[in-house]
Amino acid sequence: MAGEPYPLTRSEWKCQACSAVRLSVLALLVVAACSPPQPPRPDGGTDGGGPMVCDVVLPTECSDAGAALDYSHVKPAFDTHCANCHYGAVGGPWPLKTYNDVVDWAQIVRDSIANCTMPPEDGGTNMTKAEKQQILEWLRCGYPR
Ligand code: HEC
Repeated sequence: MAGEPYPLTRSEWKCQACSAVRLSVLALLVVAACSPPQPPRPDGGTDGGGPMVCDVVLPTECSDAGAALDYSHVKPAFDTHCANCHYGAVGGPWPLKTYNDVVDWAQIVRDSIANCTMPPEDGGTNMTKAEKQQILEWLRCGYPR
């Protein structure tokens, strides 16, 4: 049996684990310290979240203008700014192509527009504040068909 490695005792094994942990913590710190500072973004946003400035206003009541809206008024904005991704692709986000698609998810659709997480900032679509406000008005007024 000569030459066979001597099995580590329990305390020796623990020590090895400790120093491995210490080493990886150290490595993480070094990596964090060395990553280049992110350049400031023109809109003041940060990577990973939505834009820091979201000036969309969630209506607190149904306005007269909102009450005059029906789905035909907001469908073009959904088609242009949402359905280009939300069209039911396998593995993609659920569709937002029809009235029912939208109203089945009215609450979460409202939230995503109101907090500017949708459409994604880098989604290749430039939805105006007016389009967002109109959708929010329409939702606030009970999304008439
Ligand atoms: C560039 C592609 C793209 C566009 C444009 C887009 N979405 Fe999305 N959306 C996604 C993807 C991908 C997901 C699923 C992954 C995620 O939650 O980020 C998603 C998820 C969502 C969710 C679920 C979020 C959650 O918290 O689970 C909502 C609601 C939503 N989208 C609404 C919209 C609305 C409304 C629009 C248009 C105003 C829109 N999206 C435009 C790609 C897009």
